[in-house]
Amino acid sequence: MGKIRIISWVFILSLFFSIAASGEYQVERPSVSSGREIFNSNCAGCHGEKGDGTALKGAFNFTDHEKMIYKNLTVFFNAVTNGVPDTAMPSFEKLSVPRRWDVVAYSWTFWADRDGVKEGKNIYLKNCASCHGTNGNGSGFTGVFDFANVSMMVREEPEMFFKSISNGVEGTAMPSWKNSLSENERWNAVKYIWTFQFKDYPGEFPSPATVPSVGVQPPGKPWYYTPAGMVIITISIVLTALVLYLFGKGMKER
Ligand code: HEC
Ligand code: HEC
Repeated sequence: MGKIRIISWVFILSLFFSIAASGEYQVERPSVSSGREIFNSNCAGCHGEKGDGTALKGAFNFTDHEKMIYKNLTVFFNAVTNGVPDTAMPSFEKLSVPRRWDVVAYSWTFWADRDGVKEGKNIYLKNCASCHGTNGNGSGFTGVFDFANVSMMVREEPEMFFKSISNGVEGTAMPSWKNSLSENERWNAVKYIWTFQFKDYPGEFPSPATVPSVGVQPPGKPWYYTPAGMVIITISIVLTALVLYLFGKGMKER
């Protein structure tokens, strides 16, 4: 009996730990409007209200296309979390993790500006939505990248998307758009694609009448749909079954 009880406790504890650990896989979609408030009170003093880095000499300019296209949201998140050593950029660890993602999301809207995103949306709905889905989640076509998946998007660079759009993706149905869309149009498509990961941007301009509204988008994949989440859930279910079985057996033996 003693052995069974110990084994049961080990299983119960590991069950709790696996549930606690699974929380890390949850990545909410950031809110640009929340980010705007945080930015204006914490960041604009150096980066400028327009994000162009004019308020303090040397502060990063979020409208600088040549720099932005080689960045990603994770790099920005880390800069906000840790600060940038040997520069004036301080750490904002005091902000909660979701609020840090919000302000990082807002900082991207200086590059993915409303005019570019608006043109990009029209281009996207006309040329891309049939395969990539009006919500960017690839629902129109199996096996395509999910532009609404936050945990994947935060690692992407705009430059990589631009290359795929310009040259196509070899061995897949993704065609090259070099000859049918101008360079500017291709960049605006990237800017629009960038916005699927945000909860509330651009959100406001009306969609053309022929397509369903993109205002309400489904959330990114919750943690339990990620491979790691699946493994954790499977292990948890197996452990629960084992614990119940062992308890039942222990009871009988008593
Ligand atoms: C005291 C001035 C100051 C404040 C306040 C400040 N920054 Fe910065 N920030 C800087 C400077 C200076 C740099 C440039 C560092 C460098 O050379 O990379 C920088 C760099 C950055 C970068 C890194 C860009 C890169 O090179 O990858 C990000 C992202 C950033 N800031 C976001 C923010 C956000 C968001 C806030 C507000 C929550 C904020 N900053 C507040 C001064 C500031
Ligand atoms: C005929 C279907 C189809 C059309 C139309 C299409 N795509 Fe694709 N696209 C695909 C497939 C398939 C892939 C390759 C699988 C993947 O990586 O998602 C892909 C890949 C991509 C990628 C690379 C994603 C990654 O893995 O890094 C981007 C960016 C992209 N498409 C954007 C666009 C844009 C913008 C348009 C419209 C101008 C467009 N696509 C039109 C099917 C299509």
